[in-house]
Amino acid sequence: MKTVTLPEGEIIAALGQGTWYVGDDPAMREREIEALNHGIDLGMTVIDTAEMYGSGRSETRVGEAIAGRRDEVFLVSKVLPGNASRKGTIAACEASLKRLGTDRIDLYLLHWRGGVPLAETVAAFEALVKEGKIRHWGVSNFDVNDMEELFSVPGGAKVAANQVLYNLTRRGIEWDLADWCASRGIPVMAYSPVEQARLLRHSGLRELAAGLGITAAQLALAWVLRRRDTMAIPKASSSSHVADNAAAAEIILSEDTLQALDRTFAPPRKATPLEML
Ligand SMILES: NC(=O)c1ccc[n+]([C@@H]2O[C@H](COP(=O)([O-])OP(=O)(O)OC[C@H]3O[C@@H](n4cnc5c(N)ncnc54)[C@H](OP(=O)(O)O)[C@@H]3O)[C@@H](O)[C@H]2O)c1
Repeated sequence: MKTVTLPEGEIIAALGQGTWYVGDDPAMREREIEALNHGIDLGMTVIDTAEMYGSGRSETRVGEAIAGRRDEVFLVSKVLPGNASRKGTIAACEASLKRLGTDRIDLYLLHWRGGVPLAETVAAFEALVKEGKIRHWGVSNFDVNDMEELFSVPGGAKVAANQVLYNLTRRGIEWDLADWCASRGIPVMAYSPVEQARLLRHSGLRELAAGLGITAAQLALAWVLRRRDTMAIPKASSSSHVADNAAAAEIILSEDTLQALDRTFAPPRKATPLEML
């Protein structure tokens, strides 16, 4: 399994598992728990959730899935911007811990920027680190200007990761944000790495993947993982999709394949605002 290194030196798997919409359908319970566990077995030990997903149902389902094997998992959750005040962040984290059935979140992210001053959220994150309720904190959907502002507030440079939309059809971060983060040792966590499955229907991607004897999902994920400091957190609710995705972490793409992908999915030619889903 390819790994990335957090700024404080901790090494984690570069390919994890997303859980947006997981927990929404009671009939999917067994299948989702099995899929998440299969992913852990295959080394996809980073599990990403958020208080927003299903208003806590995703965290509850993740908690059920990892019960008994918490220590094998690097757990990521997120606070909503509307809750990200000094007191609100602490309360939101405690509620997430309860739903997750654990005493600590490994990486706690601000889901996106809202009206609360960054200094307040950072102070709350640092207090949670001191109390041992979170181990690292980070941000999500932060563009370069947001990261620069974050670095200007006390403790802001302790950010451990930035989770952003990144896949073959959303390459804007290659213009500046990806390098900004890489030069400071901050991993980028690519969300929606297969564009919520829409990318997998792209005929150009499918043809290239077939020529390589791999699936479209594997090609899309291996492409995201080609960057040293970049992780991917695909969501999959079946064990077969999970196994398909896990194999992507072993695939090294040739220069010819990377060039073919550049011809089909053009890299950015100018700065564009960070996109969000
Ligand atoms: N920070 C943020 O603002 C933010 C925003 C969006 C997402 N996220 C996080 O990132 C995670 C991933 O993003 P996402 O869920 O939006 O989209 P995604 O991972 O790009 O796509 C998920 C979809 O792709 C399908 N899929 C996955 N692997 C497949 C495979 N090997 N073959 C065929 N289909 C496959 C899944 O189907 P099945 O479910 O049927 O397997 C699901 O429909 C989320 O779950 C969430 O944890 C964060």
